[in-house]
Amino acid sequence: MLKSDIVKNRVALITGASRGIGKAIAEALAKDGIDIAGVDINIDELRPAMKTIEDTVGRKTAAIQADVGDSASIERAVEESIRVFGNISILVNNAGITRDNLILRMKDKEWDDVLRINLTGTFNCTKVVIKSMVKNRYGRIISIASIVGAMGNIGQANYAASKAGIIGFTKSIAREYANRGITANGIAPGFIETDMTKGLPEDVRNTLINQIPMGRLGTPEDVANVVRFLASDEAAYITGQVIHVNGGMYM
Ligand SMILES: NC(=O)c1ccc[n+]([C@@H]2O[C@H](COP(=O)([O-])OP(=O)(O)OC[C@H]3O[C@@H](n4cnc5c(N)ncnc54)[C@H](O)[C@@H]3O)[C@@H](O)[C@H]2O)c1
Repeated sequence: MLKSDIVKNRVALITGASRGIGKAIAEALAKDGIDIAGVDINIDELRPAMKTIEDTVGRKTAAIQADVGDSASIERAVEESIRVFGNISILVNNAGITRDNLILRMKDKEWDDVLRINLTGTFNCTKVVIKSMVKNRYGRIISIASIVGAMGNIGQANYAASKAGIIGFTKSIAREYANRGITANGIAPGFIETDMTKGLPEDVRNTLINQIPMGRLGTPEDVANVVRFLASDEAAYITGQVIHVNGGMYM
């Protein structure tokens, strides 16, 4: 495939695309004329999410079940995406989980699961997808970190470590592949209204809102808009950066 075709026929592989921020990213990129390979462990939620994009936006999509924390599963998912679409020009590492606990109570499994899915998952997907990006000498890698990776949070040592890890990982990839036409950037959302934050008790939510200068939690679309920009041609000279989307909560 010629480089001009890859830039024209853009395809984004998005992990955790069945709901929340990942789903909003899939919808936003599709509206920009990009085909979507949605990857999620939850195929039952992913299929209807991808179908809605096909029906409403009219872009081609694929719903692929995979566990980002399992390298063999991700290899199969990437092979399947390349078989369906021909190439992947944009990777969005979005799948993530929380298993909150104070460090004295944190179980090994809570630590391991969060690191495996959030950080090793980002490594697994990037390692496989970047192979085809190097061949094409074009690629955009966008990884969803978190405000917590920059400022820490009580009860989230595992999550904060995984997200800080994504930031260091992103900067290293940016340096390694800048001369192959590949950019790597992170986005660090603040607190966003999704299933992940739905369970916050009312008093915790109010305390949080008091710490946000803009006085509200973010929306998945607030994050998706930055992905759109980083995936666009206008962002060609931006790499190794972390863009904070947090209503001013951390500056
Ligand atoms: N919601 C927030 O406030 C917030 C803030 C900062 C960062 N983030 C990050 O944004 C990303 C998306 O968060 P969200 O709020 O939309 O969460 P969410 O829980 O609503 O969605 C996460 C998605 O990831 C999928 N997933 C989970 N484990 C997986 C695995 N092993 N393999 C493949 N898919 C898997 C889930 O099925 C789900 O579709 C996460 O990385 C999260 O850490 C969220």
